[in-house]
Amino acid sequence: MIYIVSGTQWGDEGKAKVIDYFAPDFDYVVRYQGGANAGHTVCIKDKKIIFHLMPSGILRENVVTIIGNGVVIELAELIKEIELISNDIDISNRLWISKKANIVMPYHKLMDKVKEESTKKDIGTTLRGIGPCYVDKMDRLGIRIEDLYLGKDYLKQKVEKAYALKKYLFENYYKILDLPAVDQMVDELLIYAERIEKYVADTEKILQQAHKERKNILFEGAQGALLDIDFGTYPYVTSSNTISAGALLGSGIGAFDIANVIGITKAYITRVGGGPFPTELNDEIGEYIRKQGNEFGSTTGRPRRCGWFDVVATRYSVNLNGVKEIFLTKIDVLDGLEELFVCTKYKYEDGTFDDYFPANSTILEKVKPVYVKLSGWKEKTFGIRSYAKIPDNAKRYIEFLETMLEKKISYISTGFDRDDVIVR
Ligand code: IMP
Repeated sequence: MIYIVSGTQWGDEGKAKVIDYFAPDFDYVVRYQGGANAGHTVCIKDKKIIFHLMPSGILRENVVTIIGNGVVIELAELIKEIELISNDIDISNRLWISKKANIVMPYHKLMDKVKEESTKKDIGTTLRGIGPCYVDKMDRLGIRIEDLYLGKDYLKQKVEKAYALKKYLFENYYKILDLPAVDQMVDELLIYAERIEKYVADTEKILQQAHKERKNILFEGAQGALLDIDFGTYPYVTSSNTISAGALLGSGIGAFDIANVIGITKAYITRVGGGPFPTELNDEIGEYIRKQGNEFGSTTGRPRRCGWFDVVATRYSVNLNGVKEIFLTKIDVLDGLEELFVCTKYKYEDGTFDDYFPANSTILEKVKPVYVKLSGWKEKTFGIRSYAKIPDNAKRYIEFLETMLEKKISYISTGFDRDDVIVR
C-alpha cells in the first residue's frame, strides 16, 4: 500500500505531525523533493531538534526511511542530522540515500545569496541553495551522490566543469573575492562520502522490492502545492514539483501503485517569503493567528504571513494533488475568534468573479477575496479527540470547508500531541 501525504497550501501545513501519526502503520517513509529548505521539529529524549533533510519516520524504530533521487542534499546538514540522531537511536539499515540525488554545493548557496541580494530578496528563498542546485541538475551539471565514489580525479573534473561559469560570474560580475576553491570542495566531498557510504543505495530498487513484498510505503511531501515549480504562484515558488506527482519522479515508483493521497490543509493559511497572498491579514487577527499558531519558519525563523482560509487556492491544489481525503490541521489555533472568514471566490479588477485559482502572480496580486462569514467558537477544540465533543460552530466551519473543497475531511488535528487527532 502506498500513501502520499502532500501539503495543499504554501507549506507549513503540519505535515510532520501527520506523518508521525501515520508512521506506525508504515514500513517505509520516503522524501522525494526539496532539500534543507524544509524543516520540522522533533523531540528526542526531551531535546528539541529541527530536521531539514531527514524523513520524519526516522524516530520510529520499525520504519525504514529513504531520501529519494528528487531531493537535493546538503551533505554537511545531512551528516549533522545523522550524528544527532545516532547519539540516541540506531539508524543502521533504516536510512537509505539515493545514488541519483543531487548534492547542494557551496557555490549553489552562494548563488542563492547573490541572486536574492541582487533582486532585493524578491522571492525570499531560504538561502539553502535549492534553486541553483536544481538549475544545475536540469543543466546536466549536477554533482550526484554516486559521483562521490568514482575516484577523486573524476569528481574534481565534474566540480570544475560545474563551477567554471559560476566562478567567472562570481569574480567578474558579483566581484566576490572569497570564493570556495575546487580542491577544498572536492576534499570536503570525499570526507562526507566516507561518512554516508553505508547509507547510499539504489533507492528506487529498494522501494520497488518493498512494494512487491506488499510493504506499506508513505511518501512525505515537503512544502506545499502552491509552491510547486509548475503549478504554484510562479515565480514565487520553490524549485521542485511539490505536488503528489513529484513523488513518482523523485523516487522511481509507478503511478498505478498509489493507493491514497492525503492532502494536509491548515485551518487557515500561511506563507513565508515573497509572492501574492489574497487572504493575507495584516492586522491584529493575523498577529493573533501567528502567535497562537506559533507561525515562525523552522528553517529561517521568519514570521509567517497569516490569512483566512482560501478555498479557491486550496481546491486548486486538492485537485492537482489528486487528494482523496483531507487531514485538517491546527483547528485549535482558531479557538476564541468571534467570527471567521472563508474566501470562496476572487473579484477581478474588471468587476468579474471567478472561483478558479489563476496562479499567475501578477493577476493574483490584484484580485480581491470574496468572503463568507462564519461564527467562531468560544469553547476550546484544543486537545479534543472526538468529533462529537467539538463546538457546533467548529463543526459548521469544518463541514463548510468540506463542502467547498468537495473532499472528505477525514482527520482533524487539535493540538501538538501525536494523539490529538479526531478521526471522522
Ligand atoms: P527556496 O525553496 O529556498 O528556493 O525558497 C523559495 C520559496 O519557497 C520562498 O518563498 C520560501 O520561503 C518558500 N519555502 C521553501 N521551503 C519552504 C517550507 O518548507 N515552508 C514554507 N515555505 C517554504
